[in-house]
Amino acid sequence: MSTLVVYESMWGNTEIVARAVAEGIGHDVAIVHVSDAPVPVPDDVDCLVVGGPTHAFSLSRPTTRRDAVAKGAPDAHTGRGVREWLAQLKATDRIDVATFGTRVGSVRHLPGSAAKAAGREVRRHRLGRLVATVSFYVDDMAGPLQAGEVERARAWGQELAAQRVSHGNGA
Ligand SMILES: Cc1cc2nc3c(=O)[nH]c(=O)nc-3n(C[C@H](O)[C@H](O)[C@H](O)COP(=O)(O)O)c2cc1C
Repeated sequence: MSTLVVYESMWGNTEIVARAVAEGIGHDVAIVHVSDAPVPVPDDVDCLVVGGPTHAFSLSRPTTRRDAVAKGAPDAHTGRGVREWLAQLKATDRIDVATFGTRVGSVRHLPGSAAKAAGREVRRHRLGRLVATVSFYVDDMAGPLQAGEVERARAWGQELAAQRVSHGNGA
């Protein structure tokens, strides 16, 4: 059984986090940009880790992705976002799901985040057992990630892998 990391990223910060998380998970892990993410989730995947940038206190939408491009992001990734990908999946109780996101550190007191919004979608559509939800912080809209965040992402990946072993899914 394996873990699939699916990420969305406009400037590359969430991609860096996703790669660090996958590195922390270590074994039997694949990573894919959301535009190439499979529908349905393949049968051999028993853990899904999914994340994206916080846009307007939530997961991105087509309008906010276009906004990001207008603000200077490369326009390669305006197609399908995490919100749209999750909406295409079928309910299951077979997999564990962890959600993550990036957001601006200076407004961390504001309530909304991509990580929480993705978690809500997972619960709403019953896409699996939500096991963790974490935000990572950037300095500004285009990044960079704050100091220590890549290491924190790697450690979070290690924790996810350890949880799976202790729940007996690690074989
Ligand atoms: C349209 C738009 C809306 C945003 N809204 C928020 C927000 O509500 N809260 C926040 O912390 N950051 C917000 N941001 C900043 C993004 O979270 C930041 O650009 C992202 O974390 C960078 O990750 P990426 O390089 O993977 O795209 C917004 C950015 C854009 C472009």
